[in-house]
Amino acid sequence: MSIGRGTDQKFQGDFRVTNMDNITEEKEIKDHYKSDSKWIYALLVVLLILTAIAFHRDATPQWEQYQAQFRQILTQKFGKKAADSFSYGVKQIWIKDVNKIDRCTTCHIGIDIPKLSGEDVPLVFRAHPNPELIKEHPFNKFGCTYCHGGKGYALTVKEAHFSKPAGWEDIFLSERLAKRYGFPDYKNLPLVEMNCNTCHLREKEVAGLTYINKAKKLFTEKMCTCCHTFYQYKADVGPDLTYEGDKPNDLYDFSNITNWGVLPPSVFSWHFLHFKAPYLVTPLSLMPNFNFKDQEIRSLAMLVLSFKNIPERFVVKPDPKNVFQPECVGSVPAAPGSFTRAGVGSGVKNTKM
Ligand code: HEC
Ligand code: HEC
Ligand code: HEC
Ligand code: HEC
Repeated sequence: MSIGRGTDQKFQGDFRVTNMDNITEEKEIKDHYKSDSKWIYALLVVLLILTAIAFHRDATPQWEQYQAQFRQILTQKFGKKAADSFSYGVKQIWIKDVNKIDRCTTCHIGIDIPKLSGEDVPLVFRAHPNPELIKEHPFNKFGCTYCHGGKGYALTVKEAHFSKPAGWEDIFLSERLAKRYGFPDYKNLPLVEMNCNTCHLREKEVAGLTYINKAKKLFTEKMCTCCHTFYQYKADVGPDLTYEGDKPNDLYDFSNITNWGVLPPSVFSWHFLHFKAPYLVTPLSLMPNFNFKDQEIRSLAMLVLSFKNIPERFVVKPDPKNVFQPECVGSVPAAPGSFTRAGVGSGVKNTKM
């Protein structure tokens, strides 16, 4: 018992001592807390303000900021009444028959207002620079992305302009990209011709397609179809080029390219280097080196990448006098205008290397 009580006392004693220690510590903490608390409150207030700003920014998306700026321009140019009649909101072009939506006009609001052309209007609000082209391809039927690429439904600059390739019309063919590939006329968005030609493939010449027209001429003159299958033109020395533009990135062999030079590593650059010197990209290639000039190479790279399998209704029927017929002289000539996908179905093999 005594041992027990002794133990109890000792325990109590110990307890008291430790308890006392705790009290002094707690007091010190309390004192600290008193002097720190105003900082903690200040920090809380700052955090609250930051959260409020973040919420506000979320509530004011990027496009709304552009629309606010657009209203100011309307006021300056056409007066307050015009500005008041402008309604905020997401704008979109719905291309009904293919159920496709382009919202580019949410920011590019002045695109169909001819009075908003000229350098003094910020680029994003400017009228389309090419009214003749738009007459042939009205916005309500063609939207924007069939020509420009980009993500039609996106509502931020980053997403709309810099999308990853996903479909035939998806890569945003910007000025910046054209500059990277060394196009001297990058300001005219030359890469867009690639998308133009997915629809205008069967025509020999199309007004406005400077590079593609040139490439089609080379494709015919150099008789590429003596070695390559292309629709009804059949040959099997090299791979089938009918849908070259649909060939996925991971089917290209990049392993032999040791020097990209100034080019960014990409499929476009692969074709650039391959047209420059086929054997450097594919050792022992049977494809001749044609000694093309850089501009010819850019044209040909765009041409082969525009060879895509798109829905038949987009493909422009050529005038009989203007049919692209890149035949290998000596082979059975194709009937004019017989450049059809039916031909593909009836036996053209599509073996891609
Ligand atoms: C038929 C194809 C086509 C369609 C459809 C089209 N564009 Fe264009 N767009 C072009 C071409 C080609 C250029 C380059 C023209 C030039 O610089 O001469 C261009 C230029 C532009 C420019 C650059 C303007 C400048 O001054 O540099 C903007 C912005 C633009 N387009 C936005 C749009 C938007 C937004 C839409 C949809 C509402 C659209 N485009 C629809 C072909 C098209
Ligand atoms: C959130 C606003 C916004 C959206 C959405 C948007 N743009 Fe733009 N766009 C801009 C701004 C701002 C510029 C001016 C240049 C810059 O800052 O990049 C511009 C410039 C351009 C240019 C000029 C040339 C170039 O190559 O940079 C083209 C072409 C263009 N946009 C096409 C499109 C297309 C096509 C879409 C729809 C897929 C689209 N934009 C969606 C804001 C937008
Ligand atoms: C989505 C498919 C599509 C795209 C992309 C497209 N076009 Fe067209 N284009 C058409 C159709 C459809 C017509 C009307 C053809 C007709 O009337 O028979 C046309 C008509 C034309 C015409 C007048 C008629 C002709 O065939 O010569 C020209 C020139 C033209 N486009 C040039 C261009 C240029 C340049 C681009 C790229 C900036 C372009 N197109 C992009 C489908 C397209
Ligand atoms: C003497 C035959 C021959 C001629 C003519 C020829 N090629 Fe080739 N081509 C080949 C062979 C073989 C390959 C496969 C080896 C290689 O990658 O170089 C090839 C590969 C290609 C490729 C890469 C295809 C892929 O996805 O791997 C393209 C694109 C191409 N040729 C385009 C052309 C074009 C355009 C012309 C005309 C200017 C042309 N070729 C003329 C034989 C030829």
